[in-house]
Amino acid sequence: MSISLTWEAEADLVVVGGGVAGLTAARTASLRGLRVLTLSKGGATDTSTQYAQGGIAVVAPHGDSVESHVQDTVIAGAGLCDPDAVRSIVEGGQHAVAALTDLGAVFDHGRDGEVSRTREGGHSTRRIIHAGGDATGAEVQRALNAAGLPVLFGAAVIEIVTGPDGVRGVIAVSDKGFGMVHAPAVLLATGGLGQLYACSTNPPGATADGIALALRAGAVVADLEFLQFHPTVLFTPGGVGRRPLISEAVRGEGAILVDSQGNSVTAGVHPRGDLAPRDVVSRAIAARMHELGTDHVYLDGRAIAGFEERFPTITASCLAVGIDPRVDLIPVAPAAHYQCGGVVTDTSGRTTVPGLYAAGEVARTGLHGANRLASNSLLEGLVVGERAGAAAAERRGRAERIPADTHFGVAELPRADRKLLQELMSEHAAVVRDGDGLRGAVLRLVGLISGGEADESAEVRADDPAAVIRDLEDAALTLAARALLLAAAARTESRGCHTRSDHPDPREEQRHSIGVRLGAYGRPQLITDGSAMTPSWRDAVPAAH
Ligand code: SIN
Repeated sequence: MSISLTWEAEADLVVVGGGVAGLTAARTASLRGLRVLTLSKGGATDTSTQYAQGGIAVVAPHGDSVESHVQDTVIAGAGLCDPDAVRSIVEGGQHAVAALTDLGAVFDHGRDGEVSRTREGGHSTRRIIHAGGDATGAEVQRALNAAGLPVLFGAAVIEIVTGPDGVRGVIAVSDKGFGMVHAPAVLLATGGLGQLYACSTNPPGATADGIALALRAGAVVADLEFLQFHPTVLFTPGGVGRRPLISEAVRGEGAILVDSQGNSVTAGVHPRGDLAPRDVVSRAIAARMHELGTDHVYLDGRAIAGFEERFPTITASCLAVGIDPRVDLIPVAPAAHYQCGGVVTDTSGRTTVPGLYAAGEVARTGLHGANRLASNSLLEGLVVGERAGAAAAERRGRAERIPADTHFGVAELPRADRKLLQELMSEHAAVVRDGDGLRGAVLRLVGLISGGEADESAEVRADDPAAVIRDLEDAALTLAARALLLAAAARTESRGCHTRSDHPDPREEQRHSIGVRLGAYGRPQLITDGSAMTPSWRDAVPAAH
């Protein structure tokens, strides 16, 4: 069934998402004279960027080097980083932070007048800059919002329209109803997919939208099985949905992880102890919880002087549930945090579809490999966002218009009930997985989809964009879950943040990315031909669109 369109627009670039990558790209493209239309399905602060605490990893001027940051990133990435992409993005860090500072972002300074730097898991030195103590993302978002870029809030993309020449534009829904935007370039900056799980640090809008749009537009995604669980998320009995993060920087400043008997959780697990890469720490916590039959462990930050000044956001979150981190242990457990894989791109955000770009958490540039190093995400959003905004200029004037009779629909997209999906993924695709669980989840998910009633109500709800957006989100989550489960079942090894209890070791023959594209009947299919399964995906990305 087709939907009637009530509005039409034209742009040189459509940016989908209003977080760090999207707004950085939009700003860069606008400064280059492109007509940019930015669509954001929530409000100005409903982004994952807003909730980032720890900071931005950027090479420090003294006692640090690009080499060292690259090495830490590659070690955390457990054999799947693209070293050239890592170097390229790390090298872009200082320029990106300078540009953000010029825009008005204010970072914390020490008494010596220098920018303060903290340490987080997997970093060999103190190189994480931060703002407002533990509110770095909020400051980045504030500075970008203050740049005054025009953003259409409450608007979501239903479909990316392509032709033989690549991207032609998007079909979108906003409070004006369904519309069509003719544009030769679209940048996805939609964040991650934390809402696939019952507990996540991500905001409600992290619903895999970009993954689904990219797959349906013919792009390749990869490394989806590497879903990072943050080790220390505030635990409250029965707490679900977005859970407050307890930044790794708390451990960076000296807090320690202990179990319910007061014993260290990470002693003997890794030379860096509580500051090991976060996959290691999450696994150690999961193992200890299993051993003791508990649902959380504790973070002891009582020895940190001035905790409430250094970590005001965390202090407030703890106090809100009756825990005073200055005198109490903080109950914590791992929760879904970051999608390390995503839409395959080069380091300028170009995907395998001409005119389609992706940047930020939704993209797979090769920076994170099998496990993202802490605070490399804002860095990537800034660096690749800027480059993608510049790269989009290469498409100016290149595309045909979207044909008037283009067919699209929301109701026909397969989707499962969100709560059942979250339960399924939390049970079978969390910190530790196994083959039986993953295969069972694939089958169960197919049953959940096909068991649903055909629901055409979305088509008659053009006057209720929020309801249409909810249906789109459910469809995106369902497609992403299928792709993630397939890839996780195929990866019969443990690597980075993909841990299989039935295959506890890494296997050299699997040291490559697993890609997914959409096959017949809109089903995700693994890419199994040799060329697609090399460690580097740059060959799959056209040099210039
Ligand atoms: C944290 O502050 O621990 C999270 C930072 C990140 O995910 O990079």
